[in-house]
Amino acid sequence: MCGIVGYVGKKEALPIILKSLRRIEYRGYDSCGILVQDDGKMEVHKSAGSGSIDRLEASLSGSKYEGKIGIGHSRWATHGAPSEKNAHPHLDSKGEIAVVHNGIIENYQSIKEGFLSNCVFKSETDTEVIPHLISKKKVSSEKFDWQIKEAVKEALSYLKGSYAIIVAVKGFDGLVAARKESPLIIGVGDRENFIASDMSAVLEQTNRIIFLEEGDIAVVKKDSIYIENSGSEVKREERLIEWTIEDAEKGGYEHFMLKEIYEEPRSIIDTLRGYLAEDEINLGIDFKMEGDVKGKSILMVACGTSYYAAVCGKYIIENLAKLPVHVELASEFNYADFVLDGTKVMVMAITQSGETADTLMAMKKAKRYGCKTVAITNVLGSSATRIADETIYIRAGPEIGVAATKSFVAQLAIFYLLGLFLSEMPASEFVDHLEELKRMPQVAQMVLDDENVNIQKHARYLSRYEHVFFVGRGVNLPIALEGALKLKEISYIHAEGYAAGELKHGPFALLTEDTPVIAILTPGNTYEKTLGNVKEIKARGAPVIAIAEESDEEVEKYVDAVIRVPRTSAIFSPISNTIVLHLLAYWTAKERGCEIDKPRNLAKSVTVE
Ligand code: M6R
Repeated sequence: MCGIVGYVGKKEALPIILKSLRRIEYRGYDSCGILVQDDGKMEVHKSAGSGSIDRLEASLSGSKYEGKIGIGHSRWATHGAPSEKNAHPHLDSKGEIAVVHNGIIENYQSIKEGFLSNCVFKSETDTEVIPHLISKKKVSSEKFDWQIKEAVKEALSYLKGSYAIIVAVKGFDGLVAARKESPLIIGVGDRENFIASDMSAVLEQTNRIIFLEEGDIAVVKKDSIYIENSGSEVKREERLIEWTIEDAEKGGYEHFMLKEIYEEPRSIIDTLRGYLAEDEINLGIDFKMEGDVKGKSILMVACGTSYYAAVCGKYIIENLAKLPVHVELASEFNYADFVLDGTKVMVMAITQSGETADTLMAMKKAKRYGCKTVAITNVLGSSATRIADETIYIRAGPEIGVAATKSFVAQLAIFYLLGLFLSEMPASEFVDHLEELKRMPQVAQMVLDDENVNIQKHARYLSRYEHVFFVGRGVNLPIALEGALKLKEISYIHAEGYAAGELKHGPFALLTEDTPVIAILTPGNTYEKTLGNVKEIKARGAPVIAIAEESDEEVEKYVDAVIRVPRTSAIFSPISNTIVLHLLAYWTAKERGCEIDKPRNLAKSVTVE
């Protein structure tokens, strides 16, 4: 996610803005920019690439670049490649209104082509529509503050999507800030005030924090803060924050992994938002493969957690679109003698980072076969996007913990969209599925709200064992595999994910009272069969913890403990089951005192074969 910062006060803004940007560097960024203004002058400086804050600072050192109002931005690209041109702040045509933005404007294209069709745009970003929209409202010098606020308000009324913005206007002695579905805070100082998307950006300067609420719009000056919501002034409480900067970076969570698990609902919302307008799905890519996609197949290549997401994607797309999907581990695909007809197979590479060496190699191999390639990735401008013919972005935001969590559910969200997009189901069925998909963030939130404490109890129990099995069937088999990977990766417990019906073909020999089994038992066409498998497991003396739907009373008779999830249709159950297993792995690792965000021997992005 992008980070935004603002300063208005008695000191020079430039060093403060740079320091604040440094404080949010941990979130990851691909470019940055700042604007400082005073006495009717506005100057913008930008830099792109990794280490760009260093370069920006170096390029400005020694220059006479003064002003007591400033805004800054660190960009995690979502629309438009990471480049200086696309770095914020973005300005209106006259260069008098500057905006930094965190969020996604869903309808920017239609605004550009409609209301702003006579404007010249300098970037490919969604953000640039905002300063142009603000400039549409004529502002005179009379009641200048009020008029600027009104102009921002009117501009915001055009926008669909999410935003936290800070606006600087030439000749205006303050800043305007507003938020919708993206966080924004004001740091209160002595004859100076700070604005930021992330508290860690300002804690070094002040611990007096005002949290802006949904729909708030604020006019922030050196000596005053005015906040309005729905047309009326509102008072927001100022809180004294005792967090260290490190606490703030993690949003108060002890580890990035837990923070990112709690961001799973948001990750689904942001991913869906990019591709859903009303009841239309627009993935922005051309599915044509010498004719239509029908009669052809999809081959997915991926590694690790992304591979399990792909396997789940196979079940989802085959169920919804009735289109054959094959999944291969990229590292295997690269050296196998595959028979691939490039005119009939579309290859999709699933990779959070877009930099996994094996996956990139698999994409290149697919291209040599003449296959159309699509990257499904989280990182704009990553190597995968440069190799692929087309890209679909998940919008999970920067994932810092080595264990993939929020990117996994975002990948699933894309597969639901793909499955529905490619389906030919009757309209009413399509709408029912789409409605259920839209409810998924809420379902995910319910799991976090209702089960976290219960899961901690089970994690304490699991942490005593050295071997754990995870079983599931159908669309939840890859979720069992993902649960096992997550547990072994961060808690160092030996964990195996298995198809529930397969244990009797070998692993039964390992079952004892010291090998707990986590069984995914949510409703679906394999429910009875899985319950049968669980009875067989119990008969071999292994303790069983089931993940079951909230009103399932039957399951309690056969297992030792139950973790509950909300009712969904079977095809959507992977979302809540995944969140349970991510929490279970996290709390088990925590109980064992493991280095959760940086497990031994592992890297976030595996850039070697
Ligand atoms: O960036 P990618 O999705 O291509 O990464 C693939 C795997 O390296 C990654 O998912 C890995 O398995 C995670 N650490 C698992 O949590």
